[in-house]
Amino acid sequence: VSRATFDLSTGQLVSTPRRALDKYEPQATKTKDAKLDAVIEYAQRMRDWPLLEQAIEQKIEEQIEFVQWWKEHVGSNHGGDRSKNADRDSCFSCEKAEELTGITQPQVAKWKKRLADRVKYRATLFGAAWKKAMGEMDNHRAQGTGENEWYTPAQYIELAREVMGGIDLDPASSECAQSTVQATRIHTAADNGLLHEWHGRVWLNPPYSQPLIQHFASKIVAEYHAGRMTQAVMLTHNYTDTEWFHTAARGADAICFTRGRIRFESPDGEPASPTQGQSFFYFGERVTKFVEVFKSIGFVVLAP
Ligand SMILES: C[S@@+](CC[C@H](N)C(=O)[O-])C[C@H]1O[C@@H](n2cnc3c(N)ncnc32)[C@H](O)[C@@H]1O
Repeated sequence: VSRATFDLSTGQLVSTPRRALDKYEPQATKTKDAKLDAVIEYAQRMRDWPLLEQAIEQKIEEQIEFVQWWKEHVGSNHGGDRSKNADRDSCFSCEKAEELTGITQPQVAKWKKRLADRVKYRATLFGAAWKKAMGEMDNHRAQGTGENEWYTPAQYIELAREVMGGIDLDPASSECAQSTVQATRIHTAADNGLLHEWHGRVWLNPPYSQPLIQHFASKIVAEYHAGRMTQAVMLTHNYTDTEWFHTAARGADAICFTRGRIRFESPDGEPASPTQGQSFFYFGERVTKFVEVFKSIGFVVLAP
């Protein structure tokens, strides 16, 4: 079995075989954990969510291995496993293990407790980094909320529904938008769609403000590559010069550029007057169906 890990010296993601615990070096864990904290801190600062996710995953894996090693090789001071482990070469007293690894027993107990619910632990680590990044963003007043509340007219949602056969998730929504989209599940600004996994068939018209739009573009590509999302249609303005547009274009299977402009609707039904056309990015295997359906509103470009 292999796993994706960072080479901490090069910063590259590499595939490494899972270590056998008898070749395990517990004295390296403390340094690795600190290095992974530095990667997490960097990813948070750069708001690189896929990198953040991978670094957190690796941190959790390292802790799992360490806790397992501790369980198998460290005897308790108070009786416990000591007699059981006493005749093993690799048995350590608690003090010796702390000295060897630089990690204390209370720290190991803390990791063990958190690892008992791995999903929650992962979400806590990710959520903390995300909040910190977003807090910094708020300080810079980069986030306007008003510009995010523009909803997709029903006719375009129906085209996406026709291609995908349904909409399981709208990860950037509101109660008002959901009355048109009618996805099986939604996320809103309150529970933050960026903090969840995206499964099934996804409709996405992301918030337009920066850096949210970049994060949503990176997230849709990451979720598709992770194999959780089976299909998706993402609608944005056709700002073809932006980084987020290129992020999405690199990951999509086809893009439809609209003829004319979509008049998005405000929560009270007022139509917008956008100054440019829009793009629908398609992710999935039904490219032929996407072309057939979306050619009615524009021209479609396929991924090379
Ligand atoms: C451009 S609107 C699109 C709404 C709907 N998906 C549609 O197609 O009509 C983007 C929506 O995302 C919501 N939003 C903003 N930040 C979000 C976040 N971090 N997570 C989830 N939704 C968010 C906004 O409140 C807004 O309702």
